[in-house]
Amino acid sequence: MGYTPEMMELIKRVEATRAARVERVKNGEYFTAMTLDERADVLNKFHPDYKDDGRVAVRVGPNKGDVYPEEFVACLESYPRIDPDKVDFSVLETFTTDVLVIGGGGGGTSAAIIAANEGNKVILATKLRHGDANTVMAEGGIQGADQEVDSPYYHYLDVIGGGHFTNSPELVAALTNDAPLVIKWLEDMGMMFDKNPDGRMRVRHGGGTCRKRMHSAGDMTGSEIMRVLRDEARSHTDSIELIEFAAAVEILKDSQGRVSGALMYNLETEEYFTIRAKAVVIATGGFGRLHVQGFATTNHYGATADGLVLGYRAGVPLAFMHSTQYHPTGAAYPEQNVGLLITEKVRGLGANLLNISGEQFVFEREPRDVESAAIIRECAERENGIQTPVGRLGVWLDSPMIEELEGPGTVERELPAKFVQFMRYGIDIREVPMLVYPTLHYQNGGLKINAKTETGVPGLFAAGEVTGGVHGENRLMGNSLLDVTVFGRRAGQSAAQYVSDFSGEIGEPGLAHAKEFMEEVKGLNVPEDRVAPLLLPDYTTEEVRSHQLTAHYEGTIR
Ligand code: FUM
Repeated sequence: MGYTPEMMELIKRVEATRAARVERVKNGEYFTAMTLDERADVLNKFHPDYKDDGRVAVRVGPNKGDVYPEEFVACLESYPRIDPDKVDFSVLETFTTDVLVIGGGGGGTSAAIIAANEGNKVILATKLRHGDANTVMAEGGIQGADQEVDSPYYHYLDVIGGGHFTNSPELVAALTNDAPLVIKWLEDMGMMFDKNPDGRMRVRHGGGTCRKRMHSAGDMTGSEIMRVLRDEARSHTDSIELIEFAAAVEILKDSQGRVSGALMYNLETEEYFTIRAKAVVIATGGFGRLHVQGFATTNHYGATADGLVLGYRAGVPLAFMHSTQYHPTGAAYPEQNVGLLITEKVRGLGANLLNISGEQFVFEREPRDVESAAIIRECAERENGIQTPVGRLGVWLDSPMIEELEGPGTVERELPAKFVQFMRYGIDIREVPMLVYPTLHYQNGGLKINAKTETGVPGLFAAGEVTGGVHGENRLMGNSLLDVTVFGRRAGQSAAQYVSDFSGEIGEPGLAHAKEFMEEVKGLNVPEDRVAPLLLPDYTTEEVRSHQLTAHYEGTIR
């Protein structure tokens, strides 16, 4: 299939400017990075977070009055999936454990391993299969200041600067100080990091880093991390019990407000059941499948904000949920690839972003929010985007220049997944650029935690993308894989400590908080069939939905 003849004609303009651009980079000359004022200007005018449209104030719960994306507010202002008054715990199948971990991605699996290592019985409950999570889809790398020229101090400053100086300092300190330890932990478990011929880690820059500290495994870093975490967890056969296709639908609390487990839903049998636990870790990831402001997403199918709803109803406040990350380079063509991640590593290897005239319009390693806003500006205000056959707009990401900068074979070696992903559609990214546009990638905000991952609800911990604060208003590349492993481990440790300090029996399973929340929702006049957590996204179009309804009433669908 490849590009259309019209697009191939436009690519000639990219080729015409390539030699001069490559020459400049070889001479150490880069497109000028924006000043702080220029960054603020482009963000204010073009970043979706800075627009009033599509954002509303939430009317229930601890963050009442805060303004968030309307798709997310709809989740918060929803009814429980099951009326708390109708839950009869005496008839539900019940499992009992020390620590319940909800979520089988990098954060949850790290937490389970550490809690088990501390001598606890752990249940790892995951909505889909173990490892179906954003972790496995992360491509470019994991940051960690383990090189001689670097230090957690520089890493700390980069994270704070990238987050526009809004981050929680204690969380950033935890993230950056634990990073070298986590890289070693992963390597000790068997992770195959990219290495130089002398055996040292091969590290690169990411957007907003002042030192090369991006560690990678090709462009499948998350998949490699998840491989070793999953293997490690599976080898704890006597202490970690894995329950797949098990979604948490409500946190349980006893009459003293302590966590006592979770109400679960079996996606295969469609039955509810209970897991009673002394401590619970929420590690359910993000909300990309809400498609905020209509954006395509890089996120996995289960990223539907579930943990945010569970935690919020249980009384945990949210932090930074006003801030959403749009990754600058989502695929804009071919249509089958739209929204999929094109790793920042492509720009880390030197590829420029170019407009319809083949001209560079932005430094390729600005922080993500700035880079995304600059691409949107180029397409919207300046009308310099390239149109696809279905009318999408995008800009070129000049991958062929990587071969010229770093030598033939670099694309296949460093970006094997991207190479295959595009080759499948007849696009050889060694020869022609990729068409890209920002895509919804990450939820910068989430449940508020401290550096021990405590949420404020006794016995309830949270880790990874479901939490907010460490990245402030903008996360840098390579800090999400780090976030899930650092705070997943800390959650496992804190849950273990809580269990060891715990005296008496696990409290009774209670849903008073969910009932109270439901009463608040009743006052909002929202549709009664609006329930959360969503569990899975619904892609039924209006046309199909009305056809289904008609068929239903005519008796052809039951
Ligand atoms: O661009 C990327 O490879 C994404 C990495 C990340 O979000 O950390």
